[in-house]
Amino acid sequence: MPGTTTTGNRRRNEERTAMVQLEIENQRPRRWNPLFKWRKYLKIFGSVFLIILACGAVAYASTAAIWYFFEEHLVTPDNSTTSRPKASSRTVTRATRRPTTTVSRHSLTSIEPIEESSPYHPIQERPGPFRIVGFYDSWSKYEIRGRQLQKLTHVIFSALDMNSAGTLSFHDYGIRKKFIDLVEMSKRVNPSLKIMFSIAEYAYASNFEAVVADPEKKKTLCNSIASLIQTHRIDGVDLFWKWPTKVENRDLFVLLLRDIRQKLNSISDSDHQYILSVVLPNFDWPDFKLSLDLNGIMEQVDFINVRTINYYGFWNSQWGAYTGPPSPLYSGLGAYGDSNVNWTITHYMNETGAPGKLNMGVPFFGAHWENVEGPIGVKEEMWFTAKAKTGEETFEGEYIPWREMEGWNLSAAKWHQESRCPFIWLPDERKFLGFENQRSLKEKMKYALEKSLGGITIWSVEMDDDSDTLLNSVQV
Ligand SMILES: *[C@@H]1O[C@H](CO)[C@@H](O)[C@H](O)[C@H]1NC(C)=O
Ligand SMILES: *[C@@H]1O[C@H](CO)[C@@H](O)[C@H](O)[C@H]1NC(C)=O
Ligand SMILES: *[C@@H]1O[C@H](CO)[C@@H](O)[C@H](O)[C@H]1NC(C)=O
Ligand SMILES: *[C@@H]1O[C@H](CO)[C@@H](O)[C@H](O)[C@H]1NC(C)=O
Repeated sequence: MPGTTTTGNRRRNEERTAMVQLEIENQRPRRWNPLFKWRKYLKIFGSVFLIILACGAVAYASTAAIWYFFEEHLVTPDNSTTSRPKASSRTVTRATRRPTTTVSRHSLTSIEPIEESSPYHPIQERPGPFRIVGFYDSWSKYEIRGRQLQKLTHVIFSALDMNSAGTLSFHDYGIRKKFIDLVEMSKRVNPSLKIMFSIAEYAYASNFEAVVADPEKKKTLCNSIASLIQTHRIDGVDLFWKWPTKVENRDLFVLLLRDIRQKLNSISDSDHQYILSVVLPNFDWPDFKLSLDLNGIMEQVDFINVRTINYYGFWNSQWGAYTGPPSPLYSGLGAYGDSNVNWTITHYMNETGAPGKLNMGVPFFGAHWENVEGPIGVKEEMWFTAKAKTGEETFEGEYIPWREMEGWNLSAAKWHQESRCPFIWLPDERKFLGFENQRSLKEKMKYALEKSLGGITIWSVEMDDDSDTLLNSVQV
């Protein structure tokens, strides 16, 4: 029967097709099967990954856009400079480790004519409480905290870039963010805190010499300072030229300070007096006497941060690297006899007759040396020499922030009465640590108050531990 045959053929055909399919299935290598099983999950993972990637791209793009927008459009660029500032070359000094990033940045200056006719008024000493000024290093891996800001009268953000045209800017996005955060937090936790920023020659502002010598550049700098202060509603600027050792710069530095002073006066009103300060060195070598007009500077600034730190470090002398505390209050040996805080401060007081304008620098760090040899001169466990690495000029040692001293047994430290400082000497390991602690800081505070100094300046606040151990030792 044709119908039956057709049906039978169809069924056979279907069976054959099914068998062929089964064979094909069977012939597929078994190792593929797990993949099929997991394909669903792989798809999900893939999608999630793509979504994350897309979110990242959007976040990056918007951050870049905001950054660009702020830099280029919200702040009027200064058209007196033709090119964008280049990352200023920085000299790594022995004092602090520096960041190594060189990210390009943009101008922050707005144009504002300088009032050439504004009269010059010598600045009166600022009446007020004992100043506790804290430098805050923006390149530090530690951030300043609100409780620390409550224990300061002034905070100085260190540091902004100054290019060779005198234009100020933030070195990179991270530093700008730290600055914005500092300003925001300061206003929230301590409304009476004075917020300043530093222009530091050894950090991002190696162009002091070019700027002081050129009226246009000075004008740009003055406008840039005023613009920054007004934009962020902060209180002032600190200049840290390390150091003007050329005689030609003696008057130029004072004139620069005078111009900045005039600019600050021109934007001041009865509610807002802006602050100008400088950092000056801890001793007076012959060049320095000729190149710094101390009294000329004094007339322009509100206060001087005397850098009474780093008396001893890993540099060469005729004896090698001379160990000692970073900031001895008194004493010293041989050629270092005057290398102490008392000598420096007495000298500044003698020269200026204005202790109320002087801030005494205090370190929140120590200095450690390796390869330390025998004591110098008399047998006293403070002054040693350290040997350089064989065949090299560099010494092994480093500056250690107070909060990083956990590797040293601080309770085993000895007290050196002459210098009023603690130290640790490990003869077996030939290691020496000179540092500052609660006791030495209390001695320094007593000294500063006895001499009627205007205050102290801390290098730098973020080096303190989480319990504010050192900051609590310098409260009045
Ligand atoms: C900067 O721009 C302003 C306004 O466009 C102009 O008046 C001024 O001359 C410009 N300055 C320079 C130095 O080009
Ligand atoms: C502090 O320095 C002054 C001036 O150099 C000096 O006369 C005085 O003796 C010093 N004080 C101490 C305790 O060394
Ligand atoms: C400060 O002046 C006093 C008195 O004139 C003098 O004895 C002392 O040596 C001076 N010290 C310094 C460091 O200039
Ligand atoms: C630290 O020094 C103190 C005082 O010398 C000593 O008693 C203590 O055992 C030392 N601690 C350590 C961990 O070495």
